[in-house]
Amino acid sequence: MKTLLAYASKHGTTRKAAEKLAGQLEGEVKIINLKERASRNVRIEDYERVIVGGSIHIGKIQKSVRKFCQANLEKLLEVKQLGLFICCAEEKEKALEQMENAFPAELLEKAAAKGLFGHEFNLEKMSFISRAMIKKVAGVEKSESKIKDENIKQFAEDLV
Ligand SMILES: Cc1cc2nc3c(=O)[nH]c(=O)nc-3n(C[C@H](O)[C@H](O)[C@H](O)COP(=O)(O)O)c2cc1C
Repeated sequence: MKTLLAYASKHGTTRKAAEKLAGQLEGEVKIINLKERASRNVRIEDYERVIVGGSIHIGKIQKSVRKFCQANLEKLLEVKQLGLFICCAEEKEKALEQMENAFPAELLEKAAAKGLFGHEFNLEKMSFISRAMIKKVAGVEKSESKIKDENIKQFAEDLV
């Protein structure tokens, strides 16, 4: 099955998770970064499976992900298989709530796989303000990597 994997990432976690996922999918996988201009030319109708992912910052997924979903809503509802995922630091209900807010309801309903792929805090890559905020709000003093490999594996299995 030909797959399009469209993602946006601020400090690289979602890109990393997308690449891990791509390695577990059968068939040809085209990865596109929604923050790059070239992503606007993608033809969704050329793919049987589409996966969209982004990360949560201050409660919201990237604007580029929201725009992509809105602009292509009809086409995304017509693909054979759809998967949606987020990277975020919150867990359980709060993480699920963020997932529900990140994508249009129709897409969430259609998705054969929905994933919470965990998070990283990469203090070196953050702006001074983000670093200060993360230290204050989340009490994070050093970089951490908590990508949920088991959830990525389950997601890939749900799409078979
Ligand atoms: C400034 C900032 C705000 C964040 N806000 C949230 C948030 O509201 N909820 C959450 O679950 N995670 C939050 N996170 C954690 C990110 O989702 C996490 O760092 C993720 O791995 C970022 O992925 P990316 O590098 O692909 O953008 C925040 C991280 C930063 C740096």
